[in-house]
Amino acid sequence: MARARIQYVCQNCGAVTHRWQGKCESCGEWNSVIEEAVGGQTGKVPGVSAVRGRIIDLQPLRGVIEEAPRMPCGIGELDRVTGGGFVTGSALLVGGEPGIGKSTLLLQACATIARLGRRVVYISGEEATAQVRMRAERLGLADAPVALAAETSVEDIISTLSAGPRPDFVVLDSVQTLWTSTAESSPGTVTQVRASAQAMIRYAKQTGAAICLVGHVTKDGQIAGPRTVEHMVDAVLTFEGEGGHQFRILRASKNRFGPTDEIGVFEMTGGGLSEISNPSALFLSERNLRTPGSAVFAGMEGTRPLLCEIQALVAPSALGTPRRSVVGWDSARLAMVIAVLEARCGIRFANADIYLNVAGGLRISEPAADIAVAAALVSALTGRALSGESVFFGEISLSGALRPVGQPAARLREAARLGFRRAVLPAASAAAGACGLSTLSPLADLTALVAGIAGSTDEG
Ligand code: TYD
Ligand code: MG
Repeated sequence: MARARIQYVCQNCGAVTHRWQGKCESCGEWNSVIEEAVGGQTGKVPGVSAVRGRIIDLQPLRGVIEEAPRMPCGIGELDRVTGGGFVTGSALLVGGEPGIGKSTLLLQACATIARLGRRVVYISGEEATAQVRMRAERLGLADAPVALAAETSVEDIISTLSAGPRPDFVVLDSVQTLWTSTAESSPGTVTQVRASAQAMIRYAKQTGAAICLVGHVTKDGQIAGPRTVEHMVDAVLTFEGEGGHQFRILRASKNRFGPTDEIGVFEMTGGGLSEISNPSALFLSERNLRTPGSAVFAGMEGTRPLLCEIQALVAPSALGTPRRSVVGWDSARLAMVIAVLEARCGIRFANADIYLNVAGGLRISEPAADIAVAAALVSALTGRALSGESVFFGEISLSGALRPVGQPAARLREAARLGFRRAVLPAASAAAGACGLSTLSPLADLTALVAGIAGSTDEG
């Protein structure tokens, strides 16, 4: 007789233990271990010839490759991040902190897709239909033929969707409010969220509808509760923005059908999210040319060049261990740049607090920002402002040498387009040519950069 067995499964990493634990020994997560029943085994394993199952159609690896059919939504910045539109039969997760604008973005996407003649369903588990209608009215989208419901039961949602003509695009706002009767735990728990998401993803794969799940992300950047949803879906987009800024950045952290390094830039206005197709101009708009410690970094986000301002402040420290505070960049990377400046160029930051900020609420992950960061630090320390006409890019190695980075020509062209005249870059990147700038300052190592800034009032 088969007997159900109990096992304890960590909902974060999937580790299995035989007794309950408050903290998972495998991944260190607290309160993630949940009791699960597993079906009993008879103990008798049937021989191969006795196994009865459906015969699967095996296919050769080499075959006709079909482009995944896509549904562009008409919002250029969103289509850029998804890789050209939503893919039919796929599931997408849009994560972001509460209030960042996920519902607004998706309502706008629903309306533009519906206006292209597709069947679109927007299901809100958080707001009443009247609230969604009011928002659509405010955004000027009330006339779009979007079908609307306020519902949280997965069974009811799937039955409703299956009853009518097949929808092309379904938004479920949010995955945390969904619940299914097939899972026993209460709504909002990891088990419920996972089971509900699984049911909706299965629906998408079977019918060919594209579904979009909205997920709230907690302050520490995790999709609240279930990281487990992230690996079930085809793409994960995160919507981010700094408090106090109107800019919103949509980033793909996973995409089975497209790039993961493209970003979409939006601005939250009174009339909803508007696209920013020229983000460099926006991120440089509040720049103060006379302040020491400000350097313009010529960066790349995917295929698009993006110029932004890096600000540094170096102040005498009253603390035993000076403060190193970074917003928008990697703090380990800052520590490395400081160490190289100290070790190779003889600059002392030991008794100084250092603050580094990427203006506009942008987050940069490129090592190519090293030179811009070093220039901002040296400028802040020496009190000499850098020339407002220069851009910086290039990676710093531990030896103090400057390493070339990808796509120098695109960076230089963007700088020229925005009226910059000079670029400070690694010598090995200078082969790209001036690309419209009047001066290139190719440098071999960090010492040359420091000498340039310290030696002149209008250098860098
Ligand atoms: P919302 O889309 O509800 O965020 P989320 O779904 O991520 O929780 O956006 C809420 C915020 O956006 C709210 O603070 C008001 C602001 N907002 C605008 O500034 N302009 C608008 O046109 C809309 C619809 C919202
Ligand atoms: Mg919302």
